[in-house]
Amino acid sequence: MSLIKMNIAVIGTGYVGLSTGVCLAEIGHQVNGIDVDEAKINELLQGSSPIYEPELEPLLQKNMKKGNLFFTTSLEIGLKDAEIIILAVGTPQHEDGSVDLSYLFGAAKDLAPHLKNKSIVVIKSTVPVGTNHQVKKLIEDHLPHPIAFDMISNPEFLRQGSAISDTLHPDRIIIGSLESSAASKVEAMYQPLHASIIHTSIESAEMIKYASNAFLATKISFINQIANLCESVGADVEDVAMGMGMDKRIGATFLQAGIGYGGSCFPKDTKALLHMAKQNGHHFSQLNETIAINDTQPLLLVKKAVNRFTDLKGKKIALLGLSFKPETDDMREAPSIKIAQKLLELGTVVTAYDPIAIDRAKQVLGNSIHYANSVWEALKDADALFLLTEWGEFKRIDVTRVTGLMKQPIIFDGRNCFDTDKIEACEKIEYYPVGKKAILKEGFY
Ligand SMILES: NC(=O)c1ccc[n+]([C@@H]2O[C@H](COP(=O)([O-])OP(=O)(O)OC[C@H]3O[C@@H](n4cnc5c(N)ncnc54)[C@H](O)[C@@H]3O)[C@@H](O)[C@H]2O)c1
Repeated sequence: MSLIKMNIAVIGTGYVGLSTGVCLAEIGHQVNGIDVDEAKINELLQGSSPIYEPELEPLLQKNMKKGNLFFTTSLEIGLKDAEIIILAVGTPQHEDGSVDLSYLFGAAKDLAPHLKNKSIVVIKSTVPVGTNHQVKKLIEDHLPHPIAFDMISNPEFLRQGSAISDTLHPDRIIIGSLESSAASKVEAMYQPLHASIIHTSIESAEMIKYASNAFLATKISFINQIANLCESVGADVEDVAMGMGMDKRIGATFLQAGIGYGGSCFPKDTKALLHMAKQNGHHFSQLNETIAINDTQPLLLVKKAVNRFTDLKGKKIALLGLSFKPETDDMREAPSIKIAQKLLELGTVVTAYDPIAIDRAKQVLGNSIHYANSVWEALKDADALFLLTEWGEFKRIDVTRVTGLMKQPIIFDGRNCFDTDKIEACEKIEYYPVGKKAILKEGFY
């Protein structure tokens, strides 16, 4: 089957909207990216990506040059010929865990006057069950005159840090619909990806996204609890995870113990599902625990340092890694924030280095901490190193040089990032990983 070229508009050009728009252009569609953020659109029109995501910028430039990718702040211009309109605006959380749908509802109201007969509105943003129906009603209420249009729920599963690759090679595409011809058209839009497509009701599609994220978050909290227990009983969580992961029913991914999950999705989506459950009279106690474990997990690393030093006041701590995971500049809910704040509360002097996320980190942590331009600058004369994000640069680090630069070569590895053979080869080192025995070399002090 050859590609049927479609006119597509993507509303919201953040991590999801931009990756989606660029990839849909790459597979041959005509795409308009629309955003209310003028600065973002201006940057995009220059061919520059406002976010760091591997492979994104070259594909953006290539498709803009080809003329099949355009950006605008104007819904009138962006929706002019749109057959399919994808909503990818943010859905952050309220204090009580419920989802803030104001951006989505705002976009729905604003797009209504520009909607063409027989067009399809696709919700890609993560939204609670029932939202697609609410958005349909909202659009209908704001149409200048009645027209026929369809709603599709098409949740997104890309991972930041590999957004382009995930969008071009998805594990599956979920299409939730009420109407089969609209679902077929959205399936045809994705046809060049040759992905497995699953058709469901709108409600099931909305739920699949939350259930998937809650399950993955639970897997992380579970292995972190096992890690904490491993430390008490002398087992090695990496061996345990490998032994578990080779069981096909369990699978090896999301079994890396560490300082917990962060980012813009797991924290808010788990809380939103919990809220949804509560509203419907269900006590989702397991999810409650997943969240509670994750809330305390980053602080366990600080606790280890307190145990080691007794008093952290005045100690110089180097943080390596600030973003919530490698290959992204996203600082949303990064465990590094909680750790930095706790260290400051305990009177330490914090210097941090991250290959990409420093500018965004400054927006969150301001000048409460120092920022270094390199690993080596951060480590100079440090009393301890906290490894918080497993960037490739840190995995390849020369540990001997690290220990030579630090005042005291004491490492708290929150991601089990360092190679233990290299640690063992050091003459003087104290190394505290997660869920594994500490390595304390004789002759230290
Ligand atoms: N980031 C991820 O890894 C990821 C993965 C899967 C799903 N999601 C979901 O996708 C959605 C978007 O997430 P994101 O990380 O891309 O968010 P983001 O904050 O990076 O981007 C959202 C964009 O929407 C724009 N926007 C807000 N209101 C608008 C309006 N009325 N019209 C046009 N643009 C508007 C904002 O200016 C912003 O550029 C969320 O629901 C999120 O939960 C995110």
